[in-house]
Amino acid sequence: MYLGLDLGTSGLKGLVIDEGGAVQAEASAPLRVARPAPGWSEQDPADWITAAQAVLRALSAKVDMGAIAGIGLSGQMHGATALDASDKVLRPCILWNDTRASVQAARLDADPRFRAISGNIVFPGFTAPKLVWMADEEPDLFGQVAKVLLPKDYLRLWLTGAHVAEMSDAAGTSWLDVGARDWSDDLLAATGLGRDQMPALVEGSAPSGGLRDALAQEFGLRAGIPVAGGAGDNAATAIGLGIARGGQGFVSLGTSGVLFAATDGYAPAPETAVHTFCHALPGTWHQMGVILAATDALNWFAGIAGASAEDLTAGLGELQSPGRALFLPYLGGERTPLNDAGIRGAFVGLDHATDRNAATRAVMEGVVYALVDCQQALAATGTQLDTLLAAGGGARSDYWLSALATALDLPVQVPQAGDYGAALGAARLGLMAATGAGADAMPLPPIARSFDPVTDRKQAFQDGYARFRKAQMAIKELS
Ligand code: XUL
Repeated sequence: MYLGLDLGTSGLKGLVIDEGGAVQAEASAPLRVARPAPGWSEQDPADWITAAQAVLRALSAKVDMGAIAGIGLSGQMHGATALDASDKVLRPCILWNDTRASVQAARLDADPRFRAISGNIVFPGFTAPKLVWMADEEPDLFGQVAKVLLPKDYLRLWLTGAHVAEMSDAAGTSWLDVGARDWSDDLLAATGLGRDQMPALVEGSAPSGGLRDALAQEFGLRAGIPVAGGAGDNAATAIGLGIARGGQGFVSLGTSGVLFAATDGYAPAPETAVHTFCHALPGTWHQMGVILAATDALNWFAGIAGASAEDLTAGLGELQSPGRALFLPYLGGERTPLNDAGIRGAFVGLDHATDRNAATRAVMEGVVYALVDCQQALAATGTQLDTLLAAGGGARSDYWLSALATALDLPVQVPQAGDYGAALGAARLGLMAATGAGADAMPLPPIARSFDPVTDRKQAFQDGYARFRKAQMAIKELS
């Protein structure tokens, strides 16, 4: 059996598969995000370890942990976990959706080497500008930084004792030469850091170290079993869904929203605000448009409405044409296509008839329009999607999927009941690292249903998207 651990933003999930890839057990533990100042988003890495311990304990009650032959990791990307020379965490991890480093990001992005070498805009949420923010604002702490780890790589340090990263997540730091799959000494030096402060690099499907004896004893695991490089959560989701070839993609409605496309080679186009990152298998890359709030936006609205997101969406029925109420989901700035950390969300066109259902639909439609923006950005790079699988917690809403299919004008396929997310991708990478298997260990999931574009609603969604674009321009000036 093989274990995948996915360190998400709202929880840590563990999933065990057998030799044939079938899910045997899963368990999860919740995580909270601290927002101590506007635009800030932090977690204490100690909470990740507590969550991992809870998940391992829960799994050990369900499966024979001694039969696990490999572990794979996945996690929220871009977080800056700064460690001193004794591996002590210097400050709370600054997460992917934290925009405090926007000034530092713009400064780095103005240096043409960053886009040329990393293949991407230096977004405020990426790792490098956060370290420059520390250098500017917390110089004493910055002076003590001996290693910078991404969130799941901190979990790996706990599991194996080794400082190791892998390509797909490292691509989101702004320090990686994404084409060459190696740290860039130039980009590191431009942020006052060097290669010795970076973890070693492996491919996602390769071993990164062995499980520590103490943990093996505590949880009934076998000491020394390989821990795979793993992947950032989006590349891991792709592995879980069997996506690695050009034309294949997925749309994820998670805390963030992602339109992901596997590509046949490395084709960066930073000016589009599309992300071009390494994929988790050697010699492969992918592109994606990323919006910062998908279920995050719906959960925000649910909090205000005093209901759960499930309650809000349960009674929406068949897809309707968008009404007057329009929502812009920029609760914490936006990445693709705006690259604007300062823009904020808005409700537009409210009237007396805007009831709870209408406002809920507007929030979901706003997320859909933001993903149409991502589709257009991907198309501008020449990347076309032929198939789209649905992923993330928001994919439980038929209404949302139907709206997405209609607005993207692309069928959205839903895998059969089961879990095909990042934790499965991580487990598959654990299997690959332990057995040497390749892409044959990541079959496409059986499809349960396909949401086709609703023909007689397409024009209404196109009109809605045109209004969304106009509103976007207007609120940019107001934010
Ligand atoms: C991707 C990104 C998010 C996080 C969420 O660039 O920032 O999708 O990985 O976990």
